[in-house]
Amino acid sequence: MDHQTRNDLQLIRRTLSLAERGRGLVSPNPLVGSLVVRGGRVIGEGFHARHGERHAEVAGLDACAGAAAGATLYCNLEPCATSYGADDTHPSGKLTQPCTDRIIREGVARVVVASCDPNPHVAGEGMRQLRAAGIEVVVGLGVDEALPINIAYFTNEVLRRPFVHLKVAQTLDGRIATRSGHSRWITDDSAREHVHRLRGEHDAVLVGRGTAAADDPQLTDRRPQAAGRTQPWRVVLDSHARTPPELRMFSDAHAARTVVCVSGPLGVGEAAGADTRSQAFERSGATVLRVPAAAPGEVGVDVAGVLDALWLLGVRSILVEGGQAVYTSFVRQGLFDQLTAFIAPTLVGDGVDPIGPLALQRLADAPRLEQFSITAIGDQAVATGYRSLPPIRQAVMPARRDASAAVLAAQE
Ligand SMILES: NC(=O)c1ccc[n+]([C@@H]2O[C@H](COP(=O)([O-])OP(=O)(O)OC[C@H]3O[C@@H](n4cnc5c(N)ncnc54)[C@H](OP(=O)(O)O)[C@@H]3O)[C@@H](O)[C@H]2O)c1
Ligand SMILES: [Zn+2]
Repeated sequence: MDHQTRNDLQLIRRTLSLAERGRGLVSPNPLVGSLVVRGGRVIGEGFHARHGERHAEVAGLDACAGAAAGATLYCNLEPCATSYGADDTHPSGKLTQPCTDRIIREGVARVVVASCDPNPHVAGEGMRQLRAAGIEVVVGLGVDEALPINIAYFTNEVLRRPFVHLKVAQTLDGRIATRSGHSRWITDDSAREHVHRLRGEHDAVLVGRGTAAADDPQLTDRRPQAAGRTQPWRVVLDSHARTPPELRMFSDAHAARTVVCVSGPLGVGEAAGADTRSQAFERSGATVLRVPAAAPGEVGVDVAGVLDALWLLGVRSILVEGGQAVYTSFVRQGLFDQLTAFIAPTLVGDGVDPIGPLALQRLADAPRLEQFSITAIGDQAVATGYRSLPPIRQAVMPARRDASAAVLAAQE
């Protein structure tokens, strides 16, 4: 890797840390950071701070106060090229101006981005416009580091469904509960605080009827810094509306919206009771969402149907918090994108496994995570990795076919 590429990569990494400052505030938009560098000096930096506010490139250029002519703009995502959609309407009611127009107008000489934007309104058009204006464009630097931070956005754009993140708290011997179903608490306060943060970063938190009844979880982000922020929706998979309506997620309706996913008919052999319970959910302010039943041989409601229904309601990311039957359904259907396991230094022996039967014959068919990492939080190891990076990487890397392929080759 030559000196300039190494320098460019370092600056792209700085755009990623800037982008992180918008975490939890910009959904469904991507996290984006920008830096403007001239003569080896950073003259402006910016990030997308809140949904509906100016884009990172505009924030970075605003910070330069008209001094960006001849400069290099660094950005983790391809700049947008069209004024589109109500999503990007400025609070003033005006459509935001495409970032490419502003970059060209300022006389920026060079643009370095980590990945293309798979959004069909952009998808290479940003780069095309910049190049047509005579700007040198480099694409693909640091792309592997840029994918995880916008993984939900990329999953939405490429796979057209909510991003699904399975979160498991397990013992060192791989159990999520004792044999009798006890799981509170496998992990300590520090891990649970991290889980609250994860909740705050997703649009919805989902559990099965078994976990709802066993643990009576609130499924909210109760960190002090979450005060005043929108709480994720709480979703329970419960084919026949058998979840007790007195659980906390129904009685604290002010805390967050609760959605119960049922598949008809409600309460086989106990129709009246089930109807009463589903009415009780609705009286508590919860939403009862009817979805297709799972295919024969599978448990409960159809998880693909749940994702479709939640997608239509605007849910773009889901944290799945168990239990075993629910984790198993998402894994069996191949419908998960990230898995995070909090591994506690304790042993319970013959308890509940996180994942049930997958009917795998060959190891080659086993789901495998990429960009797998292990960090520590308090007494726990936190292992996380991604499953659906290959199609996403392909969609955000048209650069492999263009002139900056040389840059990628230099990185490899
Ligand atoms: N350590 C951890 O991270 C952790 C996390 C969560 C839970 N747990 C523990 O796990 C245990 C609960 O696990 P569990 O397996 O019994 O219950 P679960 O997975 O929470 O719920 C299973 C039930 O959900 C309903 N369901 C609806 N659609 C489903 C679908 N597509 N896939 C799977 N289930 C669906 C089914 O009931 P219907 O057929 O009536 O719809 C099913 O019996 C508890 O002991 C809990 O403490 C541990
Ligand atoms: Zn833009």
